[in-house]
Amino acid sequence: MPTPTDTTNSTDATADPPEDDFTVTPYAVTGEVDYDKLLERFGADPLTDDQIKRFPDHPLLRRRTFYAGRDVDSYLDAAAAGEPHAIVTGRGPSGPMHLGHVLPLYLAKRFQQETGATVYIPLSDDEKFLAKAQSFESIGEHTHENLRDVLAVGFDPERTRIVVDTADADVVYPIAVRLAKHLTPATVEAVYGEQDTVGLQFYPAVQATHLLLPQLVAGRQPTLVPIAIDQDPHVRICRDVAAKEALPVDKPGALLGRFLPSLAGPGKMSSSGDAPSIELTADYDTVAETIHTHAYTGGRATLEEHREHGGDPAVDVPFQYLRFFFEEDDDALDSIADAYRAGDLLSGELKELAIERITDFLAAHQRRRAELDGISNELESYRLTDDERRRALERAGVPRVLENYSH
Ligand code: TRP
Repeated sequence: MPTPTDTTNSTDATADPPEDDFTVTPYAVTGEVDYDKLLERFGADPLTDDQIKRFPDHPLLRRRTFYAGRDVDSYLDAAAAGEPHAIVTGRGPSGPMHLGHVLPLYLAKRFQQETGATVYIPLSDDEKFLAKAQSFESIGEHTHENLRDVLAVGFDPERTRIVVDTADADVVYPIAVRLAKHLTPATVEAVYGEQDTVGLQFYPAVQATHLLLPQLVAGRQPTLVPIAIDQDPHVRICRDVAAKEALPVDKPGALLGRFLPSLAGPGKMSSSGDAPSIELTADYDTVAETIHTHAYTGGRATLEEHREHGGDPAVDVPFQYLRFFFEEDDDALDSIADAYRAGDLLSGELKELAIERITDFLAAHQRRRAELDGISNELESYRLTDDERRRALERAGVPRVLENYSH
């Protein structure tokens, strides 16, 4: 049964209503995104001040980069009561990871540290093989490199599970099949738009599986999915099919984020579009050169004009990067904005500040990445155990037909 807050179902949520001038689906983001309109379209709720206060303190929430959600209260209640609660946030390994990709992972880590959340991190190599013009070999290389970045974030292996779709197919595939039984082509098309292949038509059942895994492995518990809002359709599909199949799970909730702006200006930070993005492996010179050459600023055309009229932090990408993530201190951030508006701080100086902060963050990430051992060794303590696989399949009502010898 839909809960009262669940105002959306798969039939009234169309991917691309003709009256609006922007599109947001997991496979296409075009036009100028109106984040409030999107909530109406998707049927999600803006976060209240009270909800934001109840989350672990983090600039991504405090400054409303994550600004909306579904069923957030049950997650917050469980976290406050010390009851089991889980996070699922995944990665589609289609290329090197950049700054925008890693923000939800660091947020998940903060939640884990503060309230002991179990964190599941699925890597959808199947999805990216289907969605991108790449061989399995190339997707496999990205998967390998992306796993290093995921591990470098520093999750607690006791409370974290990393799943790779093709490598953990023994558990993912049977559950996805069960969920796919009530997922019609019409629903997939209404929510995602038309798909090129039957593979991509099936994939929503796989991502729905990801979102239910913590509960299938360890029992019913509030699960929150912190993601950029283009991934919300996957959450809606999962909520729908989980209810139809009457699985012993609660519908997963969502914590929905805005896109980290592209260096070229507002919009989605894209690794495939024209604007360059900052990869997690970038060194100081690369970060500096990328920001100097490409970052859109809110500064004036000439030094005199800037000194006289000041700049606009709201559209200035280096400032926005500081605001999203890289300047945690609210007072420090406010002084930067004030100095910029007053014309005391120049665009070049603001760029230097952003370069410094981003580089500090990346240096720490890269140090942890370099200290990692071989990936299969490192991954071992994060993989589902035999017992966990068996329990997930049992709860999903798809017990193993034959023993699997590989685990
Ligand atoms: N589909 C996501 C992407 O393209 C990756 C992903 C897979 C994911 N499973 C997930 C994200 C579960 C959040 C939760 O980026």
